[in-house]
Amino acid sequence: MTLSLSTNRWTGWRLFGAIAAAILAMAALILALTPDLAQGVRVVIRATARTSFTLFLLAFVASALAVLRPSPFTRSLVRERRYIGLAFAFSHLVHAVAIATYGHLSPEFWPGRTGFANVPGTIGYVFILLMAATSFDRPARLIGPKHWKRLHLTGMWVTATIFAYSYFKRVPLNAWYLLPSVVLVIAVAVRVAGKRAMAARRRAALRTPVSIDLA
Ligand code: HEM
Repeated sequence: MTLSLSTNRWTGWRLFGAIAAAILAMAALILALTPDLAQGVRVVIRATARTSFTLFLLAFVASALAVLRPSPFTRSLVRERRYIGLAFAFSHLVHAVAIATYGHLSPEFWPGRTGFANVPGTIGYVFILLMAATSFDRPARLIGPKHWKRLHLTGMWVTATIFAYSYFKRVPLNAWYLLPSVVLVIAVAVRVAGKRAMAARRRAALRTPVSIDLA
């Protein structure tokens, strides 16, 4: 059996809508099942960081996987990368709303954080916002393909670094955080291997002599 996002008709905005609805349903369920509201919102912050991480990983390795392991599924991942990326941005929007709500419910939250602690996350949000905005035709055309590529490449690596920082720093508190840390290292290795394979293919294509049939 082959698994493909397109044969299941989970494509485009329908795919985005389904993921967004699942994230909202998860948040609602967490709040309904946690007796203390502030505690529940804190769990939503952590849970949305995890849904964001999963969606980010899919977008991060999509084209590398399609090169290293071509299949209907990996090809549909590449095709749907825009909507997966937008779903990642949506998940992080819920992360932000939950953080703001938690700040209201627990007034000691913001004063308890140093300005420095907010720097990586703020930089992350700036890139997420810019990447999401330029996922639409008009802003993408406005900045042009060269700047688009540069922005999305930088944004992907900045986001990967923030995830790495967020997970690595929690390992001393809980060894389970080694799991996402290792998954991220593997994802980086897959992406690098995919880019190398693509570059090797391009070089091989350039070396292949073009025979012109004059007959
Ligand atoms: C200024 C912006 C941000 C603030 C104030 C913030 C705040 C928080 C807070 C309060 C938690 C829960 C901590 C806990 O209960 O242990 C958290 C978790 C987390 N955040 Fe954010 N965040 C921000 C932006 C980001 C960004 C941009 C990313 C990733 C690109 C990110 C990734 C994470 C991760 C990976 C976790 C850990 C989730 C887990 O426990 O599995 N955050 N954040």
